Amino acid sequence: MEQFLRTPIKELIERFPDVGRILDAYGIGCVPCSVGTCLLADIVEIHNLSEEEERKLLGRIAAVLFPGQDVPLPVTKRSRPAGPRKISYSPPVKRLVEEHKVIMRFVALIPLIARAFDPDSEEHRRLIIEGVDFIRSYADRFHHAKEEDILFGYFDPNLDILKVMHEDHRKGREHVKSLVDAMDRRDREGVAANLSGYAAVLTEHIKKEDEILYPWMDRNLSTRQVGEMFAKFQEVDRKFEEASRKYEEFVDDIESKFNTVAEVTR
Ligand SMILES: [Fe+2]
Ligand SMILES: [Fe+2]
Repeated sequence: MEQFLRTPIKELIERFPDVGRILDAYGIGCVPCSVGTCLLADIVEIHNLSEEEERKLLGRIAAVLFPGQDVPLPVTKRSRPAGPRKISYSPPVKRLVEEHKVIMRFVALIPLIARAFDPDSEEHRRLIIEGVDFIRSYADRFHHAKEEDILFGYFDPNLDILKVMHEDHRKGREHVKSLVDAMDRRDREGVAANLSGYAAVLTEHIKKEDEILYPWMDRNLSTRQVGEMFAKFQEVDRKFEEASRKYEEFVDDIESKFNTVAEVTR
């Protein structure tokens, strides 16, 4: 069993698809993950399972790996004991979660924007251009830069979970680039496909950050690091204050234009 704890999860799921289904039942989404090099042992720690849940999960996985055999279950090493299941974020991380809400309000409007889009309408093209500006400036230059330049900097860049997050950011940027190209060609399908591709990447990405990555990072940051991060975030927030307000107003405006407000966010 020890040897399987040190096997990259994608490899394990390929050999034993039932392992993917078991992880899925615990809300651990390794099957759709694009990287999948995390080790089973790390997954158990990152997902903050209680000791009891961990025993049950490993027991079910052992039954798949060694059918009919009674194998001793290993005890995984934890850098911290499992915390409470209810998530409470440190103040700087909470700021990032608040920014996710603004981004998700925009993402919630994407299907409506995509459906209504007419490439020959000046007004519709302007809305896409403004949406791209929101994504590039607020979601990417402001929010993702805070993550990449400050928060992630407290952790080993070789961690698989960080590679997954960087890869998601990259995929989001790729969709935006293709979206702009499709706009220039007045390609309605291309615009719609890249808008919904971006929405899908960001929805999954933000869920992973809110529910898994941020709580795990918070558990591993010292009080001094949290304080230092708070000060660094404040500096960025101050520089971006006016722009930030402008982009929040932009989301308010398109919500009233489409006469809808995202449920998750208010
Ligand atoms: Fe991110
Ligand atoms: Fe984020």
